[in-house]
Amino acid sequence: MSRLLVEGKKEISGEITAQGAKNSILPILAATILCDGESCLKNCPNLTDVDFSLDILHYLGCKAHRENTTITVNAENFDKSTVSDSLMKRMRSSVIFLGALLGKAHHAEISCPGGCELGARPIDIHISSLKKLGAVFERNDDIIICSAPDGLKGCNIDLRYQSVGATENIILASVLASGTTIISNAAREPEITDLVAFLNKCGAKIFGAGTETILIEGVKKLTGAEHKIIPDRIAIATYMACTAVTGGCLTVYDVIPEHIRSVIPFFRETGCVVKCTENELRIFAPEKLTSPELITTKPYPSFPTDAQPPLMSVAAVGGGITVFVENVFTNRYNHVPSLRKLGANIIVNDRLAIVTGVKKLHGTSVNAMDLRGGAALVVAALAAEGTTEINGFEHILRGYDRSLFTKTDENTYKPNF
Ligand code: EPU
Repeated sequence: MSRLLVEGKKEISGEITAQGAKNSILPILAATILCDGESCLKNCPNLTDVDFSLDILHYLGCKAHRENTTITVNAENFDKSTVSDSLMKRMRSSVIFLGALLGKAHHAEISCPGGCELGARPIDIHISSLKKLGAVFERNDDIIICSAPDGLKGCNIDLRYQSVGATENIILASVLASGTTIISNAAREPEITDLVAFLNKCGAKIFGAGTETILIEGVKKLTGAEHKIIPDRIAIATYMACTAVTGGCLTVYDVIPEHIRSVIPFFRETGCVVKCTENELRIFAPEKLTSPELITTKPYPSFPTDAQPPLMSVAAVGGGITVFVENVFTNRYNHVPSLRKLGANIIVNDRLAIVTGVKKLHGTSVNAMDLRGGAALVVAALAAEGTTEINGFEHILRGYDRSLFTKTDENTYKPNF
Protein backbone atom coordinates (compact mmCIF):
# COMPACT_ATOMS: atom_id res chain seq x y z
CA MET A 1 0.00 0.00 0.00
CA SER A 2 1.37 3.46 -0.87
CA ARG A 3 0.63 6.78 0.78
CA LEU A 4 0.42 10.46 -0.11
CA LEU A 5 1.57 13.10 2.36
CA VAL A 6 -0.29 16.39 1.94
CA GLU A 7 0.66 19.66 3.65
CA GLY A 8 -2.50 21.61 4.34
CA LYS A 9 -3.28 25.30 4.04
CA LYS A 10 -1.20 25.77 0.91
CA GLU A 11 -2.92 27.99 -1.65
CA ILE A 12 -3.53 26.27 -4.99
CA SER A 13 -2.98 28.94 -7.61
CA GLY A 14 -1.42 29.24 -11.03
CA GLU A 15 -2.22 27.31 -14.18
CA ILE A 16 -2.67 23.73 -15.30
CA THR A 17 -3.57 21.95 -18.52
CA ALA A 18 -6.34 19.41 -18.01
CA GLN A 19 -5.31 15.78 -18.36
CA GLY A 20 -7.03 13.61 -20.96
CA ALA A 21 -10.17 11.82 -19.78
CA LYS A 22 -9.67 8.44 -18.14
CA ASN A 23 -13.19 7.32 -18.98
CA SER A 24 -12.63 8.22 -22.62
CA ILE A 25 -9.23 6.64 -23.22
CA LEU A 26 -10.24 3.30 -21.65
CA PRO A 27 -13.07 2.39 -24.08
CA ILE A 28 -11.10 3.87 -26.97
CA LEU A 29 -8.14 1.58 -26.17
CA ALA A 30 -10.57 -1.36 -26.19
CA ALA A 31 -11.94 -0.10 -29.53
CA THR A 32 -8.50 -0.23 -31.15
CA ILE A 33 -8.70 -4.03 -31.35
CA LEU A 34 -11.54 -3.61 -33.87
CA CYS A 35 -9.27 -1.67 -36.24
CA ASP A 36 -7.14 -3.17 -38.98
CA GLY A 37 -4.56 -0.38 -39.07
CA GLU A 38 -2.63 1.57 -36.47
CA SER A 39 -4.31 4.05 -34.15
CA CYS A 40 -2.54 7.04 -32.69
CA LEU A 41 -4.13 8.48 -29.58
CA LYS A 42 -3.04 11.89 -28.31
CA ASN A 43 -3.54 13.52 -24.90
CA CYS A 44 -3.52 10.19 -23.07
CA PRO A 45 -3.32 10.53 -19.29
CA ASN A 46 -0.56 8.68 -17.45
CA LEU A 47 -2.54 6.50 -15.02
CA THR A 48 -2.54 2.94 -13.76
CA ASP A 49 -5.92 2.17 -15.39
CA VAL A 50 -4.35 3.07 -18.74
CA ASP A 51 -1.35 0.83 -17.91
CA PHE A 52 -3.78 -2.01 -17.13
CA SER A 53 -5.53 -1.54 -20.48
CA LEU A 54 -2.20 -1.59 -22.30
CA ASP A 55 -1.35 -4.83 -20.46
CA ILE A 56 -4.62 -6.34 -21.71
CA LEU A 57 -3.86 -5.20 -25.28
CA HIS A 58 -0.38 -6.79 -25.08
CA TYR A 59 -1.91 -9.99 -23.68
CA LEU A 60 -4.29 -10.08 -26.66
CA GLY A 61 -1.30 -9.92 -29.04
CA CYS A 62 -1.56 -6.22 -29.97
CA LYS A 63 1.37 -3.86 -30.24
CA ALA A 64 0.82 -0.89 -27.95
CA HIS A 65 3.36 1.73 -27.16
CA ARG A 66 3.33 4.96 -25.14
CA GLU A 67 5.52 7.96 -25.71
CA ASN A 68 4.68 10.82 -23.35
CA THR A 69 0.99 11.52 -23.90
CA THR A 70 0.72 9.62 -27.20
CA ILE A 71 -0.23 5.96 -27.39
CA THR A 72 -0.08 3.97 -30.62
CA VAL A 73 -1.86 0.65 -30.95
CA ASN A 74 -1.67 -1.85 -33.76
CA ALA A 75 -3.98 -4.86 -33.49
CA GLU A 76 -2.65 -6.61 -36.60
CA ASN A 77 -1.31 -9.53 -34.51
CA PHE A 78 -4.41 -9.80 -32.29
CA ASP A 79 -4.62 -13.54 -31.59
CA LYS A 80 -6.60 -14.18 -28.38
CA SER A 81 -10.13 -13.59 -27.25
CA THR A 82 -9.70 -14.49 -23.61
CA VAL A 83 -8.46 -12.14 -20.92
CA SER A 84 -6.81 -13.67 -17.86
CA ASP A 85 -8.49 -13.39 -14.49
CA SER A 86 -5.60 -11.44 -12.98
CA LEU A 87 -5.83 -8.77 -15.73
CA MET A 88 -9.63 -8.54 -15.56
CA LYS A 89 -9.66 -8.10 -11.80
CA ARG A 90 -7.38 -5.06 -11.88
CA MET A 91 -10.07 -2.60 -12.98
CA ARG A 92 -13.79 -2.35 -13.48
CA SER A 93 -13.57 -0.95 -17.00
CA SER A 94 -11.91 -4.13 -18.27
CA VAL A 95 -15.56 -5.18 -18.88
CA ILE A 96 -15.43 -2.93 -21.94
CA PHE A 97 -13.23 -5.53 -23.65
CA LEU A 98 -16.28 -7.83 -23.70
CA GLY A 99 -18.04 -5.87 -26.47
CA ALA A 100 -14.80 -5.23 -28.37
CA LEU A 101 -13.72 -8.90 -28.31
CA LEU A 102 -17.15 -10.05 -29.30
CA GLY A 103 -17.24 -7.53 -32.17
CA LYS A 104 -13.79 -8.55 -33.39
CA ALA A 105 -13.60 -12.32 -32.74
CA HIS A 106 -17.24 -13.27 -32.07
CA HIS A 107 -15.89 -14.82 -28.89
CA ALA A 108 -14.86 -13.50 -25.48
CA GLU A 109 -13.84 -15.20 -22.29
CA ILE A 110 -13.43 -12.92 -19.32
CA SER A 111 -13.88 -13.09 -15.58
CA CYS A 112 -16.07 -10.72 -13.59
CA PRO A 113 -14.33 -7.32 -13.56
CA GLY A 114 -12.75 -5.67 -10.52
CA GLY A 115 -12.56 -1.92 -9.79
CA CYS A 116 -13.79 0.54 -7.19
CA GLU A 117 -16.19 -0.81 -4.56
CA LEU A 118 -19.12 1.54 -5.08
CA GLY A 119 -21.87 -0.86 -4.13
CA ALA A 120 -23.45 -3.49 -6.34
CA ARG A 121 -22.12 -3.11 -9.89
CA PRO A 122 -23.93 -5.74 -11.92
CA ILE A 123 -23.42 -6.13 -15.68
CA ASP A 124 -26.89 -7.47 -16.42
CA ILE A 125 -27.66 -4.63 -18.87
CA HIS A 126 -24.45 -5.35 -20.81
CA ILE A 127 -25.28 -9.06 -21.00
CA SER A 128 -28.96 -8.75 -21.96
CA SER A 129 -28.06 -6.20 -24.68
CA LEU A 130 -25.29 -8.33 -26.17
CA LYS A 131 -27.68 -11.31 -26.16
CA LYS A 132 -30.08 -9.29 -28.31
CA LEU A 133 -27.28 -8.81 -30.82
CA GLY A 134 -26.88 -12.60 -31.04
CA ALA A 135 -24.38 -13.39 -28.28
CA VAL A 136 -24.74 -16.55 -26.24
CA PHE A 137 -23.46 -16.61 -22.66
CA GLU A 138 -22.20 -19.40 -20.42
CA ARG A 139 -20.99 -18.96 -16.87
CA ASN A 140 -18.26 -21.14 -15.41
CA ASP A 141 -17.88 -19.97 -11.78
CA ASP A 142 -16.38 -16.52 -12.16
CA ILE A 143 -15.64 -16.89 -15.89
CA ILE A 144 -18.06 -15.50 -18.48
CA ILE A 145 -17.84 -17.23 -21.84
CA CYS A 146 -19.56 -15.39 -24.62
CA SER A 147 -19.78 -16.21 -28.30
CA ALA A 148 -21.78 -15.33 -31.37
CA PRO A 149 -21.83 -18.57 -33.41
CA ASP A 150 -24.10 -17.06 -36.07
CA GLY A 151 -22.43 -13.63 -36.01
CA LEU A 152 -23.85 -10.44 -34.52
CA LYS A 153 -26.93 -8.85 -36.07
CA GLY A 154 -28.14 -5.30 -35.59
CA CYS A 155 -31.35 -4.87 -33.58
CA ASN A 156 -33.23 -2.38 -31.40
CA ILE A 157 -32.06 -2.20 -27.80
CA ASP A 158 -33.99 -0.22 -25.22
CA LEU A 159 -31.87 0.21 -22.08
CA ARG A 160 -33.71 0.04 -18.75
CA TYR A 161 -31.05 2.45 -17.39
CA GLN A 162 -28.68 4.70 -19.34
CA SER A 163 -25.57 2.74 -18.30
CA VAL A 164 -22.32 4.23 -19.61
CA GLY A 165 -20.49 0.90 -19.83
CA ALA A 166 -23.42 -0.95 -21.41
CA THR A 167 -23.86 1.77 -24.06
CA GLU A 168 -20.15 1.50 -24.87
CA ASN A 169 -20.22 -2.29 -25.02
CA ILE A 170 -23.19 -2.27 -27.39
CA ILE A 171 -21.44 0.24 -29.67
CA LEU A 172 -18.25 -1.84 -29.68
CA ALA A 173 -20.08 -5.09 -30.38
CA SER A 174 -22.36 -3.71 -33.09
CA VAL A 175 -20.02 -1.49 -35.10
CA LEU A 176 -18.85 -4.47 -37.21
CA ALA A 177 -22.17 -6.37 -36.98
CA SER A 178 -24.48 -6.87 -39.91
CA GLY A 179 -27.43 -4.47 -40.12
CA THR A 180 -28.43 -1.52 -38.00
CA THR A 181 -28.53 -1.26 -34.23
CA ILE A 182 -30.56 1.40 -32.46
CA ILE A 183 -29.91 2.05 -28.77
CA SER A 184 -32.75 3.84 -26.97
CA ASN A 185 -32.21 5.43 -23.55
CA ALA A 186 -28.47 5.44 -24.31
CA ALA A 187 -26.04 7.16 -21.95
CA ARG A 188 -25.15 10.67 -23.16
CA GLU A 189 -21.78 11.17 -21.43
CA PRO A 190 -19.10 13.10 -23.39
CA GLU A 191 -16.86 10.04 -23.13
CA ILE A 192 -19.36 8.10 -25.28
CA THR A 193 -19.36 10.90 -27.83
CA ASP A 194 -15.55 10.71 -27.83
CA LEU A 195 -15.58 6.94 -28.40
CA VAL A 196 -17.98 7.43 -31.31
CA ALA A 197 -15.85 10.26 -32.74
CA PHE A 198 -12.84 7.92 -32.74
CA LEU A 199 -14.78 5.03 -34.31
CA ASN A 200 -16.28 7.28 -37.00
CA LYS A 201 -12.77 8.47 -37.91
CA CYS A 202 -11.93 4.77 -38.34
CA GLY A 203 -14.80 4.32 -40.82
CA ALA A 204 -17.73 3.50 -38.53
CA LYS A 205 -21.20 4.85 -39.22
CA ILE A 206 -22.59 5.88 -35.87
CA PHE A 207 -25.13 8.66 -35.44
CA GLY A 208 -26.73 10.38 -32.45
CA ALA A 209 -23.95 10.10 -29.84
CA GLY A 210 -24.67 12.57 -27.05
CA THR A 211 -28.41 12.03 -27.44
CA GLU A 212 -30.48 9.22 -26.00
CA THR A 213 -30.87 7.47 -29.34
CA ILE A 214 -27.74 6.13 -30.99
CA LEU A 215 -27.89 4.47 -34.39
CA ILE A 216 -25.08 2.19 -35.52
CA GLU A 217 -24.97 1.03 -39.14
CA GLY A 218 -22.65 -1.97 -39.15
CA VAL A 219 -19.62 -1.67 -41.45
CA LYS A 220 -17.34 -4.43 -42.78
CA LYS A 221 -14.05 -3.04 -41.63
CA LEU A 222 -12.44 -0.29 -39.56
CA THR A 223 -9.10 1.34 -40.18
CA GLY A 224 -7.06 2.95 -37.41
CA ALA A 225 -7.13 6.72 -36.87
CA GLU A 226 -5.46 9.58 -35.09
CA HIS A 227 -7.53 11.00 -32.27
CA LYS A 228 -7.11 13.46 -29.39
CA ILE A 229 -8.74 12.36 -26.14
CA ILE A 230 -11.12 14.94 -24.61
CA PRO A 231 -10.16 16.71 -21.36
CA ASP A 232 -11.12 14.97 -18.13
CA ARG A 233 -14.15 16.81 -16.71
CA ILE A 234 -13.85 15.09 -13.32
CA ALA A 235 -10.16 15.94 -12.97
CA ILE A 236 -11.09 19.56 -13.81
CA ALA A 237 -13.79 19.57 -11.11
CA THR A 238 -11.17 18.20 -8.69
CA TYR A 239 -8.64 20.95 -9.54
CA MET A 240 -11.45 23.48 -8.96
CA ALA A 241 -12.24 21.91 -5.58
CA CYS A 242 -8.55 22.13 -4.54
CA THR A 243 -8.53 25.82 -5.50
CA ALA A 244 -11.82 26.57 -3.73
CA VAL A 245 -10.76 25.17 -0.34
CA THR A 246 -7.36 26.90 -0.34
CA GLY A 247 -8.53 30.40 -1.31
CA GLY A 248 -6.60 30.14 -4.58
CA CYS A 249 -6.95 31.32 -8.15
CA LEU A 250 -6.40 28.82 -10.96
CA THR A 251 -6.48 28.88 -14.75
CA VAL A 252 -7.23 25.54 -16.39
CA TYR A 253 -6.35 25.14 -20.08
CA ASP A 254 -7.89 22.69 -22.51
CA VAL A 255 -11.35 22.67 -20.96
CA ILE A 256 -14.64 21.99 -22.74
CA PRO A 257 -16.89 24.22 -20.57
CA GLU A 258 -20.05 22.45 -21.79
CA HIS A 259 -18.81 19.21 -20.16
CA ILE A 260 -18.66 20.80 -16.71
CA ARG A 261 -21.78 22.90 -17.03
CA SER A 262 -23.46 21.02 -14.16
CA VAL A 263 -20.62 21.50 -11.65
CA ILE A 264 -19.94 25.20 -12.25
CA PRO A 265 -23.10 26.31 -10.32
CA PHE A 266 -21.81 24.40 -7.26
CA PHE A 267 -18.65 26.52 -7.21
CA ARG A 268 -20.55 29.75 -7.88
CA GLU A 269 -22.84 28.93 -4.95
CA THR A 270 -19.78 28.59 -2.70
CA GLY A 271 -18.82 32.15 -3.63
CA CYS A 272 -16.12 31.25 -6.16
CA VAL A 273 -15.97 33.32 -9.33
CA VAL A 274 -15.80 31.03 -12.37
CA LYS A 275 -15.09 32.42 -15.83
CA CYS A 276 -14.97 30.36 -19.00
CA THR A 277 -13.83 31.13 -22.50
CA GLU A 278 -14.02 28.70 -25.39
CA ASN A 279 -11.45 26.27 -23.95
CA GLU A 280 -10.17 27.85 -20.77
CA LEU A 281 -11.53 28.19 -17.26
CA ARG A 282 -10.57 30.51 -14.40
CA ILE A 283 -11.66 30.05 -10.83
CA PHE A 284 -11.10 32.61 -8.04
CA ALA A 285 -11.94 31.43 -4.53
CA PRO A 286 -13.45 33.76 -1.93
CA GLU A 287 -11.95 34.23 1.53
CA LYS A 288 -14.84 32.35 3.11
CA LEU A 289 -16.86 29.65 1.32
CA THR A 290 -20.64 29.50 1.54
CA SER A 291 -22.53 26.20 1.24
CA PRO A 292 -24.54 25.10 -1.80
CA GLU A 293 -27.90 23.76 -0.64
CA LEU A 294 -28.51 20.58 -2.59
CA ILE A 295 -26.42 18.37 -4.88
CA THR A 296 -28.17 15.51 -6.65
CA THR A 297 -26.11 13.13 -8.77
CA LYS A 298 -27.62 11.78 -12.00
CA PRO A 299 -26.40 10.67 -15.44
CA TYR A 300 -25.02 13.33 -17.80
CA PRO A 301 -25.91 16.14 -18.42
CA SER A 302 -26.83 16.33 -14.71
CA PHE A 303 -24.36 16.54 -11.84
CA PRO A 304 -21.82 13.67 -12.15
CA THR A 305 -21.49 11.08 -9.41
CA ASP A 306 -17.70 11.11 -9.91
CA ALA A 307 -17.55 14.75 -8.76
CA GLN A 308 -19.62 14.11 -5.63
CA PRO A 309 -16.76 13.00 -3.32
CA PRO A 310 -14.25 15.80 -4.09
CA LEU A 311 -16.97 18.44 -3.96
CA MET A 312 -18.23 17.07 -0.64
CA SER A 313 -14.85 18.10 0.80
CA VAL A 314 -15.54 21.66 -0.36
CA ALA A 315 -18.95 21.57 1.34
CA ALA A 316 -17.22 20.23 4.48
CA VAL A 317 -15.58 23.63 5.00
CA GLY A 318 -18.53 25.75 3.77
CA GLY A 319 -20.42 28.19 5.97
CA GLY A 320 -23.70 26.24 6.16
CA ILE A 321 -25.40 22.95 5.30
CA THR A 322 -25.25 21.03 2.00
CA VAL A 323 -27.36 17.97 1.29
CA PHE A 324 -26.02 15.41 -1.19
CA VAL A 325 -28.27 12.83 -2.84
CA GLU A 326 -26.33 10.04 -4.56
CA ASN A 327 -28.54 8.45 -7.21
CA VAL A 328 -26.07 6.58 -9.42
CA PHE A 329 -24.24 4.20 -7.07
CA THR A 330 -25.60 2.51 -3.96
CA ASN A 331 -22.40 2.89 -1.91
CA ARG A 332 -20.55 6.04 -2.81
CA TYR A 333 -19.95 7.54 0.61
CA ASN A 334 -16.87 5.45 1.52
CA HIS A 335 -14.86 8.66 1.97
CA VAL A 336 -17.12 9.95 4.74
CA PRO A 337 -15.50 8.13 7.72
CA SER A 338 -12.10 9.55 6.71
CA LEU A 339 -13.55 13.05 6.18
CA ARG A 340 -15.03 12.80 9.68
CA LYS A 341 -11.63 11.78 11.03
CA LEU A 342 -10.27 15.01 9.51
CA GLY A 343 -12.94 16.89 11.47
CA ALA A 344 -15.85 17.11 9.00
CA ASN A 345 -19.44 17.02 10.21
CA ILE A 346 -21.31 14.61 7.90
CA ILE A 347 -24.35 12.44 8.56
CA VAL A 348 -25.15 9.67 6.07
CA ASN A 349 -28.54 8.07 5.70
CA ASP A 350 -28.75 5.65 2.78
CA ARG A 351 -28.41 7.83 -0.36
CA LEU A 352 -28.39 11.12 1.58
CA ALA A 353 -25.37 12.84 3.10
CA ILE A 354 -25.90 15.97 5.17
CA VAL A 355 -22.76 18.06 5.41
CA THR A 356 -22.53 20.87 7.94
CA GLY A 357 -19.54 23.03 7.14
CA VAL A 358 -16.93 23.35 9.89
CA LYS A 359 -14.42 26.16 10.49
CA LYS A 360 -11.39 23.87 10.60
CA LEU A 361 -10.18 20.45 9.48
CA HIS A 362 -7.02 18.96 11.00
CA GLY A 363 -4.43 16.71 9.37
CA THR A 364 -4.34 13.05 10.42
CA SER A 365 -3.89 9.58 8.91
CA VAL A 366 -6.75 8.43 6.65
CA ASN A 367 -7.47 5.66 4.14
CA ALA A 368 -8.55 6.13 0.52
CA MET A 369 -11.09 3.40 -0.25
CA ASP A 370 -11.68 4.24 -3.94
CA LEU A 371 -10.51 6.63 -6.65
CA ARG A 372 -12.84 9.62 -6.22
CA GLY A 373 -13.07 9.08 -2.48
CA GLY A 374 -9.26 9.38 -2.50
CA ALA A 375 -9.56 12.64 -4.43
CA ALA A 376 -11.98 13.89 -1.76
CA LEU A 377 -9.33 13.22 0.88
CA VAL A 378 -6.72 15.20 -1.08
CA VAL A 379 -9.10 18.18 -1.26
CA ALA A 380 -9.90 17.93 2.46
CA ALA A 381 -6.20 17.52 3.33
CA LEU A 382 -5.41 20.74 1.45
CA ALA A 383 -8.06 22.53 3.51
CA ALA A 384 -6.80 21.03 6.80
CA GLU A 385 -4.23 22.38 9.23
CA GLY A 386 -1.07 20.29 9.41
CA THR A 387 -0.08 17.19 7.44
CA THR A 388 -2.42 14.44 6.28
CA GLU A 389 -1.26 10.93 5.44
CA ILE A 390 -3.54 9.35 2.80
CA ASN A 391 -3.02 5.59 2.69
CA GLY A 392 -4.25 3.67 -0.33
CA PHE A 393 -2.77 6.26 -2.69
CA GLU A 394 -2.79 3.61 -5.45
CA HIS A 395 -6.56 4.24 -5.80
CA ILE A 396 -5.85 7.89 -6.67
CA LEU A 397 -3.23 6.94 -9.27
CA ARG A 398 -5.91 4.98 -11.11
CA GLY A 399 -7.46 8.23 -12.30
CA TYR A 400 -5.18 11.23 -11.69
CA ASP A 401 -2.10 11.82 -13.82
CA ARG A 402 1.25 10.75 -12.34
CA SER A 403 2.73 14.15 -13.25
CA LEU A 404 0.71 15.63 -10.37
CA PHE A 405 2.80 13.72 -7.80
CA THR A 406 6.44 13.00 -6.90
CA LYS A 407 7.68 9.82 -5.30
CA THR A 408 9.78 10.62 -2.25
CA ASP A 409 10.58 7.05 -1.17
CA GLU A 410 9.49 3.52 -2.04
CA ASN A 411 5.91 3.91 -0.80
CA THR A 412 5.50 7.63 -0.28
CA TYR A 413 4.41 10.39 -2.64
CA LYS A 414 3.84 14.12 -2.29
CA PRO A 415 1.70 16.38 -4.46
CA ASN A 416 3.41 18.69 -6.95
CA PHE A 417 0.76 21.37 -6.37
N1 EPU B 1 -25.81 -0.84 -13.61
C1 EPU B 1 -26.61 -1.95 -13.52
N2 EPU B 1 -26.46 -2.93 -14.46
C2 EPU B 1 -25.55 -2.83 -15.47
C3 EPU B 1 -24.73 -1.69 -15.56
C4 EPU B 1 -24.88 -0.69 -14.60
O1 EPU B 1 -27.45 -2.06 -12.62
O2 EPU B 1 -25.48 -3.76 -16.29
C5 EPU B 1 -25.92 0.22 -12.58
C6 EPU B 1 -24.62 0.28 -11.75
O3 EPU B 1 -24.63 -0.69 -10.74
C7 EPU B 1 -24.61 1.69 -11.24
C8 EPU B 1 -25.28 2.46 -12.37
O4 EPU B 1 -25.98 1.50 -13.16
O5 EPU B 1 -25.35 1.78 -10.07
C9 EPU B 1 -24.32 3.25 -13.24
O6 EPU B 1 -23.44 2.38 -13.89
P1 EPU B 1 -22.80 2.69 -15.34
O7 EPU B 1 -22.84 1.42 -16.10
O8 EPU B 1 -23.42 3.90 -15.93
O9 EPU B 1 -21.30 3.05 -14.92
P2 EPU B 1 -19.98 2.34 -15.40
O10 EPU B 1 -19.96 2.20 -16.87
O11 EPU B 1 -19.71 1.15 -14.57
C10 EPU B 1 -18.77 4.64 -15.74
C11 EPU B 1 -17.50 5.27 -15.27
C12 EPU B 1 -17.59 5.55 -13.78
C13 EPU B 1 -18.77 6.51 -13.57
C14 EPU B 1 -20.06 5.88 -14.14
C15 EPU B 1 -21.27 6.81 -14.06
C16 EPU B 1 -15.84 4.33 -16.73
C17 EPU B 1 -14.65 3.47 -16.89
N3 EPU B 1 -16.39 4.36 -15.52
O12 EPU B 1 -18.92 3.45 -14.98
O13 EPU B 1 -16.39 6.21 -13.41
O14 EPU B 1 -18.94 6.75 -12.20
O15 EPU B 1 -19.86 5.55 -15.52
O16 EPU B 1 -21.00 8.01 -14.69
O17 EPU B 1 -16.27 4.98 -17.66
C18 EPU B 1 -14.68 6.87 -11.95
O18 EPU B 1 -14.14 7.40 -12.93
O19 EPU B 1 -14.29 7.03 -10.77
C19 EPU B 1 -15.84 6.01 -12.17
C20 EPU B 1 -16.31 5.17 -11.25
